[in-house]
Formats: sequence, structure tokens, C-alpha cells
Amino acid sequence: MAILVTGGAGFIGSHTCVELLNAGYEIIVVDNLINSKPEVIQKIKQITQRDFKFYQADLLNRSELEAIFESNTIDAVIHFAGLKAVGESVEIPLRYYHNNVSGTIILCETMAHYNVKRMVFSSSATIYGDPQSVPIKEDFPLSTTNPYGSTKLMIENILQDLYLSDKEWSISLLRYFNPIGAHKSGLIGEDPKGIPNNLMPYIVRVASGKLETLSIFGNDYPTIDGTGVRDYIHVVDLSLGHLDALKKIMLTKGINSYNLGTGKGYSVLEVIRAFEISTGQKVNSKITHRRPGDIAECYADPSKAKIELGWTASRDLYEMCLDAWKFAKQQ
Ligand code: NAD
Ligand code: UFG
Repeated sequence: MAILVTGGAGFIGSHTCVELLNAGYEIIVVDNLINSKPEVIQKIKQITQRDFKFYQADLLNRSELEAIFESNTIDAVIHFAGLKAVGESVEIPLRYYHNNVSGTIILCETMAHYNVKRMVFSSSATIYGDPQSVPIKEDFPLSTTNPYGSTKLMIENILQDLYLSDKEWSISLLRYFNPIGAHKSGLIGEDPKGIPNNLMPYIVRVASGKLETLSIFGNDYPTIDGTGVRDYIHVVDLSLGHLDALKKIMLTKGINSYNLGTGKGYSVLEVIRAFEISTGQKVNSKITHRRPGDIAECYADPSKAKIELGWTASRDLYEMCLDAWKFAKQQ
């Protein structure tokens, strides 16, 4: 059985490739490397001691994609490929809609043509907008506040319509909360280009002296200590959720959405403290104004994934911090 992994050189994709290979799956990776490095492919092979085919190709290039389906027997697709920077999506929305939405449509058309109708899709908790309450359940109202989030919601709607039109499809929509951490080996992890937007990559750059001070975006939210609360999840736990979703779509048809989070929220100050305690590294920080578009609190009710997929996250915040730091030190 071969699984096509789009965006497999990226942060979450690379960790999922490792877990798929460790579990004995055959994989094929397609990635245009717009936001990842070619070395990652070698690192995945080094960690797992397994080989696989890698295609440097763009989902928007229909003929390249068709050639991949033509020359391989693919049973299912795990679809990570997409652009993901919220701020950038506000500046260049058309690029985001084209890459994420058109890329997914071309992928689905190609899949249908080759009669491959099983997909696990990377969705996001961002489609819950500013939730009325927490923890968030899958049936909460959906809304978005930026083009990136809108691409995720549009793709979910497209995949719902696709299933309604052809009940042979089997699709899992995985709504990720805040993935952080890295593989235990320290060989793969999150390494954003330029100045990071997200909390953990910023923390590790301050701790390693590459950036001076972390700005804490507001301490006047109605939360435990006034700073923003999120559901941080170890990227390896998140990756393992894809294997459970894959098992389900191999056995049953239909379309289902699942929250992949721990169910526990931590504030920015709690994350900084956990990082300092677990790594022994000081993180210089200062309180600044709120970041436009941020919400106070966001954490999952992950019980649907537990009941229907048999999946739960097991790695705690200290392990997430330690693993992120181990990877950062090796860069
Ligand atoms: P990432 O940028 O590290 O990985 C995405 C990969 O897709 C990259 O390697 C990139 O080169 C590739 N890619 C992008 N467009 C492509 C295209 N048109 N053709 C081929 N390859 C293409 O991001 P990630 O953090 O690993 O996220 C993976 C998926 O999960 C994305 O769809 C993202 O939107 C979603 N997601 C991420 C987060 C997060 O916080 N990291 C949260 C929720 C959802
Ligand atoms: N934060 C800071 N300083 C920083 C960066 C972040 O204080 O330098 C705070 C934010 O205000 C927020 C928390 O840290 O309270 C987490 O922020 P992130 O940017 O790490 O994550 P977000 O929850 O804002 O968004 C992330 C991804 C989105 C995705 C969402 C849900 O960037 O794409 O998680 O999965 F949609």
C-alpha cells in the first residue's frame, strides 16, 4: 500500500512521513520545497533507515502530478501541501487562494481520474474563528478572519461537496491546534524562513541568542494571567493522529472532521516558564500590544478523535519544549 504525502518535506509532513515509514507503510512524497529544504528528505531516510520516492513538484502543475499517479500505485493521499502564514495571506491573498484551493482541486481531480478516493486533509483550528466558548467541539460554528483561514474552510466545503457528489470518497478533515516540538533525534523540526510568526519558533531563537527579545502580544486578555491561551500539541502526537485517520479511511467511506489537540490550554507566560524550566535557558521577553486578529483562548475538545479514531496526545509541554530546543541547537 503506497501513501502519497503532499507537503511531506514540511514541518508536520516530515514527522508524519517518519511515523508512516516506522509503521511499515510505503510512501511517496511530493513537495515543491517552497517552504522546506531538500535535506529534510535525507533526514527522514536517516531516522527511519527506509527509502522512498521524492518528487520535487508543484500541485498546481497538473501534468507533473498526473505523471506521479501514472507511474505509482497510490492507495490514499495525506494532503499537507499549502501555504500557511496568516500575515502573508493578508498581503498576497490571491497567491494563497490559488496555491491552497486550486492546488487541492487539481489534486482531487487527479485522484478521481486515477480512482484514488481516500484523503486525509490538514485543516486548522483557525476555522473556528473566535469561539464562543472553550473547549471547542467539531460542531461549533465555523468562520475565518484571514485569507489563509478562508482557504482551509473553502477546502473543507469543497471536500464535503465532493463527497456528496460521489459517496465512494473517504475523507478525514484534521483540524490541528498548535503543533510545536520536534522529532526526538533533533534531525527534523520547525525551521521557518526569516523572523518567526509563531510563539515556539520565536522562543527558541531568543533562547539561542539569534533574536533579542520575545514580544508577548498583550496581557489584558480574560485568561488565567492575561496572555493568550492555546492548545499546544507535540508534532509527533499530531503525526500519529494521521496514521489513525488513515486506518479509518481505509476501512470506511464518508467525510469526518476531527480536532487534533491535547484538550489543555496554556498561556504564553506558562509556555515561557515551561521552556525555561525544561531547558534551563532564559527567554528575554517584554509585554507589548495585542496582535491584531488574535483571540484570547483556543483549545480543543479532542474526545471525538479519541472515540472514533482511538487517538489521544500523550506528550506534555515540557517534552514539546525540550524537543524543540534540541532541534534548534542542531541548526
Ligand atoms: P510547512 O510549510 O512546513 O509544510 C507545507 C509543505 O507544503 C512545505 O514543505 C511546502 O514546500 C509544501 N507546499 C506548499 N505549497 C505547495 C504546492 N503547491 N505544491 C507542492 N508542495 C507545496 O507547514 P506545516 O506546518 O507542516 O503545515 C502542514 C499543513 O498543515 C499545511 O496545510 C498547514 O496549513 C496546516 N496547518 C499547520 C498548522 C501549524 O501551526 N503548523 C496549523 C494548522 C494547520
Ligand atoms: N505570541 C506572542 N508572541 C509571539 C508570537 C505569538 O505573544 O511572538 C502569542 C500569540 O499572541 C498567541 C500565542 O502566542 O496568544 C500563540 O501564537 P502563535 O502565532 O504561535 O499561534 P496562533 O494560535 O496565533 O496560530 C497558529 C497558526 C495558525 C493556525 C492556528 C491554529 O499560526 O495558522 O495556530 O492551528 F491556524
